[in-house]
Amino acid sequence: MQELRIGVLGFGVVGRGVVELLLTQGELLRQRTGVVLRLVRIATRTPARDRGLPLGEVELTDDLQRVVSADDIDVVVELIGGLEPARSLLMTALQSGKHVVTANKALLALYGHELFPLAAARQRELLFEAAVAGAIPIIKVLRESLAANRIDQLYGILNGTCNYILTEMREQGSPFAEVLRDAQAKGFAEADPSFDVDGIDAAHKLAILAAISFGSYPDFQQIHIEGIRHVSDIDIQWATEMGYRIKLLGIAKQDEGRVELRVQPTMVPVGSMVASVEGVYNAVFVRGHAAGTTMYHGRGAGERPTASSVVADLIDLARSSRAGCGGRVAPFSMLPEALQQFPLRQTDDWRGEYYLRLAVADRPGVLAEVTQVLARQQISIDAIHQKGRSAVAAVPLIMVTHATSERQIRLALAEMEQLDAVQETPRFIRIEPNVV
Ligand SMILES: NC(=O)c1ccc[n+]([C@@H]2O[C@H](COP(=O)([O-])OP(=O)(O)OC[C@H]3O[C@@H](n4cnc5c(N)ncnc54)[C@H](OP(=O)(O)O)[C@@H]3O)[C@@H](O)[C@H]2O)c1
Repeated sequence: MQELRIGVLGFGVVGRGVVELLLTQGELLRQRTGVVLRLVRIATRTPARDRGLPLGEVELTDDLQRVVSADDIDVVVELIGGLEPARSLLMTALQSGKHVVTANKALLALYGHELFPLAAARQRELLFEAAVAGAIPIIKVLRESLAANRIDQLYGILNGTCNYILTEMREQGSPFAEVLRDAQAKGFAEADPSFDVDGIDAAHKLAILAAISFGSYPDFQQIHIEGIRHVSDIDIQWATEMGYRIKLLGIAKQDEGRVELRVQPTMVPVGSMVASVEGVYNAVFVRGHAAGTTMYHGRGAGERPTASSVVADLIDLARSSRAGCGGRVAPFSMLPEALQQFPLRQTDDWRGEYYLRLAVADRPGVLAEVTQVLARQQISIDAIHQKGRSAVAAVPLIMVTHATSERQIRLALAEMEQLDAVQETPRFIRIEPNVV
């Protein structure tokens, strides 16, 4: 029977899951592909560490070159993460004529423009289902199942750590810092959580999803990124009171030939499906011109969920090699010559409804001063809320606007910050009333 000889780089969370699936599901994989998916070698920094798996004949080494340049490997599975040495290793693997499967979204978002053309030039596959949203097969959906559609909008909850923190903040009524500490203790957040809570991880994934949706190489620099550090428990309480949930959304929109790419905390109606995605779960919503909106929900990380997607890519490779039809689907669902850079809509030109939170002195006339600023910027107000009284401390003043441009919102908030009565930097959160 035909074989696909596999070398794995990295034996951490995902590496372990992949190795376990390959070693325990051999029969199922054979029945599904007609190919033996044979794990030949694993290279990792500390091979001596026990991972609790009987490896049998599989070779374990700390020499990464023995995977990327070896003659007895057909496909390299990269699961070490980070930019270097992952980037150089994958270049070597592709140059040595190997296919590559990776879960490394950071690498693809930043160096996809180098790696994908190299793979095409060498007529090798570079597959990456596990790089976005763990177990959710969103890459295959966008590249294949929805290929007949012009995608005009895609949004999703792409980071389970942030979704877990926001869910806990609401359920426990606790502030961000306390929930983050608890998430770290439970293993739901890294010791250095900045990639997650500052929105960078979600942006890496959004870059990849936008590239497939709109037909371009991923360009991380084009994304507007805000994380969740500034979301306060007060915002979460007010959101609940007004019928919203706050979610860290990655949003990609295309209209009138322009594209908008952003990762930011967003208020969504409490009855929407996206609001119901809680805890560590991820979800992606795609609006295609023919299919309408479809939703994909599941575990966005973890050993087995992520390994499931890595091995799905290996299955695709095995099937293609058996059928002799490699390169059937282009990485971004478009032939390389059809890829283009999309012009961006600038932050200032975004239009939408906004939630504004000010901390103001509790004295007569303050509301009039604030609303005059809004009037000067031609921002019309849908609702104003002020609760609580205090002779000494600032009290929150909450406002919700009708649709306006982000330029006007930023100008208004800058002006408000100069008012004597405004005692903290004003905050705003974008509202997306029309999500599904
Ligand atoms: N964890 C998830 O749920 C998840 C979900 C989706 C995507 N991903 C992506 O999958 C990739 C792997 O993530 P992970 O969570 O499995 O990471 P991890 O648990 O930190 O494992 C990384 C592995 O790579 C090895 N490694 C790291 N740097 C190395 C180097 N310079 N040389 C040799 N070995 C090195 C480590 O070695 P030793 O253990 O031998 O010291 C470890 O086994 C990342 O790109 C990540 O973004 C992860």
